[in-house]
Amino acid sequence: MSAAISVSGRRVECAEDQSILEAFLRAGVWMPNSCNQGTCGTCKLQVLCGEVDHRDSPLETLTADERASGLALACQARPLVETEVALHGSEMGRTTHVLRDLTATVVGVEDIARDTRRILLGLEEPLAFSAGQYVELLVPGTAERRPYSLANTAEEDKVLELHVRRVPGGVASEWLFGPVAVGDRVEVCGPLGDFHVPDADDDEGEPMVLIGGGTGLAPLLGIARTALARHPDRTAVLYYGVRTEADLYDTDRLAELAERYRGFSFVTVLSRETRPGHRGGYAPDAFVEDIASARGWSGWLCGSPALVEAGVKAFKRRRMAPRLIHREKFEPATPRPALAEIYQEPPG
Ligand code: FES
Repeated sequence: MSAAISVSGRRVECAEDQSILEAFLRAGVWMPNSCNQGTCGTCKLQVLCGEVDHRDSPLETLTADERASGLALACQARPLVETEVALHGSEMGRTTHVLRDLTATVVGVEDIARDTRRILLGLEEPLAFSAGQYVELLVPGTAERRPYSLANTAEEDKVLELHVRRVPGGVASEWLFGPVAVGDRVEVCGPLGDFHVPDADDDEGEPMVLIGGGTGLAPLLGIARTALARHPDRTAVLYYGVRTEADLYDTDRLAELAERYRGFSFVTVLSRETRPGHRGGYAPDAFVEDIASARGWSGWLCGSPALVEAGVKAFKRRRMAPRLIHREKFEPATPRPALAEIYQEPPG
């Protein structure tokens, strides 16, 4: 049974078995969101009146005390009756890109690094999104959805570019590193996530630093290219961390960007081997070594939780304002391996 749900005076119908988050995003009403799987807590909201079913909300993300005080996770909770919710922040209820279901056609499959592929998905109609957001892909032959960041700028809206890393035994990897072929049809849902460039009017052209681990490079490519096209003279430094040289990809693309924009530079960082032309160690440490002060800079982090957490600490150490720190964690779909194992190896 559907039930109406409202926030800041905007009322939408929440279909049966639709989360509050999904109902709002499908109606083009913004709500903070990131993982869409109950792990990050970004979508926490206050139920003002009505009643919700918390469904699979994990206790680690939404404690019993929080439930008792009327909090809920928008990406998990379903309204049981007409419900009104509120979130902190003045942007609640603003218009956003509409969340849509699309059927895409695989138009490109390319091996770009060890256990890493670029998948291109052609769309019949363009998808409106902001650079840095992600889509969910329904793995063919299963009921499983997996999130993949877009490497596109918003203008590149007809062919979606995903970078995927093989996860041994992973349900999506079975397909993406197995039978996938050009011409295959696949269901995609998006855009999702709040990790994206600000609107052009809000982009002041401040210096930026981007740190990506593994396929965490994907959204940073879209973000950096968008930010540089808007402000060609801005300073932007990208730290790209992987384990070994064989894991690196798209360095030619980054070199082209550095050629085109004098303020852009990038640093490749290898954590497990020493090779000429690359730094050794971890990408956030390389940033701390290089940049004495990042006051007034914006920071963009994407990769494994450990990389993102280390990046936040590094940014704060270099005096970046917390409000200018943007992050996207690639949470494993399966139980977490040891942190050392996923330091720079986001699951694909
Ligand atoms: S917990 Fe809802 S978006 Fe992450």
